Amino acid sequence: MIVSFASSKGGVGKSTTCAAIAAKLAQDGMSVLVLDLDQNQTVARWALKAAMPGLEVRAVAPDTFTAVFRDTASRFDHVLIDLAGTREATALKAMARSDLVIIPAQASEPDLREALVIIDDITDVVEAGAAGLQYRLLLTKLFPLPTRVTMFAHHEIARHAMARFDTGLVERAQYREMFLTGKAPTIAEPEGKAAREITGLIEEIHAILGRALTKTERAA
Ligand SMILES: Nc1ncnc2c1ncn2[C@@H]1O[C@H](COP(=O)(O)OP(=O)(O)OP(=O)(O)O)[C@@H](O)[C@H]1O
Ligand SMILES: [Mg+2]
Repeated sequence: MIVSFASSKGGVGKSTTCAAIAAKLAQDGMSVLVLDLDQNQTVARWALKAAMPGLEVRAVAPDTFTAVFRDTASRFDHVLIDLAGTREATALKAMARSDLVIIPAQASEPDLREALVIIDDITDVVEAGAAGLQYRLLLTKLFPLPTRVTMFAHHEIARHAMARFDTGLVERAQYREMFLTGKAPTIAEPEGKAAREITGLIEEIHAILGRALTKTERAA
């Protein structure tokens, strides 16, 4: 499968979610390529610490994205694309090549507005011919207990009929520590709460993509 992580809002958890999912897929024996378009190369730096067999991370300059994708993507079971926190042309190119776009957002008005902008871009990409492309909003950095802000977020999500994951990522130290230690949640504490969130998220992704051939399978 090919999954992009997109949001024009910075710091919402694109790189964190991308790295945590990549680690779990590699841990399960899959070959995983992460194309890192984040200017900070967050996932590329994490991967040096993580040093996981089956996981390859390439830092990619925006103007080389298409060429790198063409040369590499078909050799892996899964390709994850960590996009920059700005709205730019490479994001459209990456989304057009994906099966699924994950849009992380905190339960806040500004994050949800930005998510709507990305959803509009996805609608454009689908209308332009990227058949089968789906998206899901992923709530991140959630407070463990529901608050008024979370209730507002759910209300807004329903009002705009945004498709979202049932799984959300709670604000947890393990998501921060993974960049310090290199150990993703499913490695650091496989039965821990963060690991269960990531596993649940991957199960949902497989259910969403279902039995249809993903773009990596079609290329193989
Ligand atoms: N669920 C979480 N719990 C705790 N900390 C988190 C969580 N998700 C992300 N963070 C922290 O928030 C910060 C920003 O996360 P991240 O780098 O993943 O965001 P991003 O969307 O990739 O940002 P950018 O747009 O700048 O690339 C990091 O310090 C990360 O450790
Ligand atoms: Mg990032």
